[in-house]
Amino acid sequence: MGCSGLFLFYWSVIVSLAAIAFADDYDNYFLCRYVEDKGNYTANSTYQANLNRIVSQLSSPTQFNYGFYNLSAGQSPDEVNAIALCTGDRTQVECNSCLNRTATELMQRCPWYKEATAWSQFCLVRYANRDIFGQLENEPRTCAFNPKNASNPEQFNDGLIELLNNLSNIAAAGGPLRKYAAGNLQTIYAAVQCTPDMDEQNCTACLNYGREELSKCCKGRLGCRVLRPTCILRYESGPFYQTAVPPPSPPPSPSGREGLARAPAPPKLLKFNNFFYFF
Ligand SMILES: *[C@@H]1O[C@H](CO)[C@@H](O)[C@H](O)[C@H]1NC(C)=O
Ligand SMILES: *[C@@H]1O[C@H](CO)[C@@H](O)[C@H](O)[C@H]1NC(C)=O
Ligand SMILES: *[C@@H]1O[C@H](CO)[C@@H](O)[C@H](O)[C@H]1NC(C)=O
Ligand SMILES: *[C@@H]1O[C@H](CO)[C@@H](O)[C@H](O)[C@H]1NC(C)=O
Ligand SMILES: *[C@@H]1O[C@H](CO)[C@@H](O)[C@H](O)[C@H]1NC(C)=O
Ligand SMILES: *[C@@H]1O[C@H](CO)[C@@H](O)[C@H](O)[C@H]1NC(C)=O
Ligand SMILES: *[C@@H]1O[C@H](CO)[C@@H](O)[C@H](O)[C@H]1NC(C)=O
Repeated sequence: MGCSGLFLFYWSVIVSLAAIAFADDYDNYFLCRYVEDKGNYTANSTYQANLNRIVSQLSSPTQFNYGFYNLSAGQSPDEVNAIALCTGDRTQVECNSCLNRTATELMQRCPWYKEATAWSQFCLVRYANRDIFGQLENEPRTCAFNPKNASNPEQFNDGLIELLNNLSNIAAAGGPLRKYAAGNLQTIYAAVQCTPDMDEQNCTACLNYGREELSKCCKGRLGCRVLRPTCILRYESGPFYQTAVPPPSPPPSPSGREGLARAPAPPKLLKFNNFFYFF
C-alpha cells in the first residue's frame, strides 16, 4: 500500500513535469483547418497581400478589447475579414504574442485557402472572404485529445458533463465583451469560451455542439480540446488556466459633460465555487 502510494506519487510528479514541458512547446498545440469550397488564392495575389495586412494588424493590436478582434483588409472581391480571440485568462502581452505566432503559422501551414482557422493553446484566428461577424459556424472544426484514459471513465464522464454544462451556461450569459468560464470539479479542470460576437443563443448552440462532439471524440480521455470556429472547450486532469484577467477600468469620465454617452462599465470579476463569473 505504502509502496504503491509512493510509486504513484513519483509517477504523478514525472507526469506533471512532462505536462509542463509539453505546455511550454507552443507548436504542440497549433492546429489549422480550412474550408475547401470557399476558394483558393494564389501566390502574390491581392488576397494574399490583404491576408498579410491582417497578420500584421494582429501582430500589433493596439487595444486589448478583452482579447477579441474583428478585422478587415482590402475591398471586395479580395476583402479579407478576420476574427481573433484569446482565452479569457491571458494578459494583453500573452495575447498579442499568441495572435502574432498563430496568424503567421496559419498562413504558412494552411496556405492557399481563402477561408481557414487556426487554434493554439491560448488563442484562435480565422479569416474568410465573406462576412463572418456574429454568425455561428460549424466548419472547419477539429478535436485533439490526450491519449491517456481516465481510470474510472463513467464517473469521470458524469462529473465532466455536469461541470461543462455549468460552465457553458456561465460563458453564454457572459455579455458582449467576453464569454468565458473556467472551473474545476475535484481534479477535472475545464474552460469553455465563445467568440463574444455570438449572442447568448448562438454561444449556447455552439457549446452544445461542442459537448456532443466531446462525448464522442474525447470519450474516456484524461484531457481533450474541442475546437470550433466560434467556440472552444477544453478539459484536463490538472490546472491549465490562470485566474481570468479582469478587464481594465474605463478612464474616469470628465465631469459636467452629462450629454456624452458613457463607456459601458467593465464586467466585475467574482470568484464563487471555483467559477469566475462576469457581470
Ligand atoms: C486549392 O489549393 C489546394 C492546396 O494547394 C489544392 O489541393 C486544391 O486543389 C486547390 N483547389 C482549387 C479549386 O484550386
Ligand atoms: C511572387 O513574388 C516573389 C517575390 O517577388 C517571387 O519570387 C515569386 O516568383 C512570385 N511568385 C509567383 C507565383 O508569381
Ligand atoms: C511577430 O513575430 C515575428 C516572428 O515570427 C517577429 O519578428 C515580430 O517582431 C513579431 N511582431 C510583434 C509585433 O511582436
Ligand atoms: C466587424 O468587421 C466587419 C468587417 O470590417 C464590419 O463590417 C463590422 O461592422 C465589424 N463589426 C463590429 C461590431 O465591429
Ligand atoms: C446566429 O447564427 C446564425 C447562423 O450564422 C445567424 O444567421 C444569426 O444571425 C445569428 N444570430 C444572431 C442573433 O446573431
Ligand atoms: C484508451 O481507450 C481507447 C478506447 O477505449 C483505446 O483505444 C486506447 O488504446 C486507450 N489508450 C490507452 C493509452 O490506454
Ligand atoms: C452545477 O450547478 C448546479 C446548480 O447550480 C450545482 O448544484 C452543481 O453543484 C454544479 N456542479 C458543478 C460540477 O459545478
